[in-house]
Amino acid sequence: MNGKLLILSSCVLALAASGAETDSPAPSVDRVGFPKDYAKGYEVLRTVARDEGAKVVTVYGNAPAASVTNRTQLPYPNGSVLVMETASTVKNAEGKPVKDAGGALQKDKVLGLHVMRRGKDFGAAYATKRSGEWEFVEYRADGSHITPPQKSSSCAECHIKAGAEKDFVYNGRFVAPDKK
Ligand code: HEC
Repeated sequence: MNGKLLILSSCVLALAASGAETDSPAPSVDRVGFPKDYAKGYEVLRTVARDEGAKVVTVYGNAPAASVTNRTQLPYPNGSVLVMETASTVKNAEGKPVKDAGGALQKDKVLGLHVMRRGKDFGAAYATKRSGEWEFVEYRADGSHITPPQKSSSCAECHIKAGAEKDFVYNGRFVAPDKK
């Protein structure tokens, strides 16, 4: 009887351990929320052209996030939402990005939205991978998940490196002076 129990419990332990390898601790529910009207309602904090203009990355903030205009105001207030949108750009027949009269790239399709929300006690579910009071989710333009909450510990883990002094936000509206 005892032997069987021992085998059973070590199987459960082995399962738990293998599960931990694929899925690090992470929130089980989406408390970030798809920011449906971000393109209209949020402030554009920064725009960056990537891959020789093939993509445009735009960072948006809702009103609480946009209220931080100087790093001395950090940390971000709870309720802050930062959205990092990646969009393809309009290309010509040769596949080269087309610029408008003002020299700006034109966005074509939204490929994905990296979203982080700050809230009271947010982030605890990431355990050792926690980066402050933020939770992370990646959405498609239609609101479906690319990186659901359950898989978002990799986001939190990398944002640890942005550091507590930046409230775990790499750049937000600020272009990092220390960026190499
Ligand atoms: C390997 C490291 C890494 C991972 C993994 C990562 N990020 Fe980031 N993230 C960055 C860096 C670096 C920047 C700054 C990029 C820039 O400004 O050009 C950034 C920027 C952001 C921003 C804009 C605010 C800021 O920090 O400047 C958001 C929002 C964001 N990430 C969310 C996410 C989400 C959601 C995930 C997971 C789906 C994720 N990140 C995964 C490194 C990472």
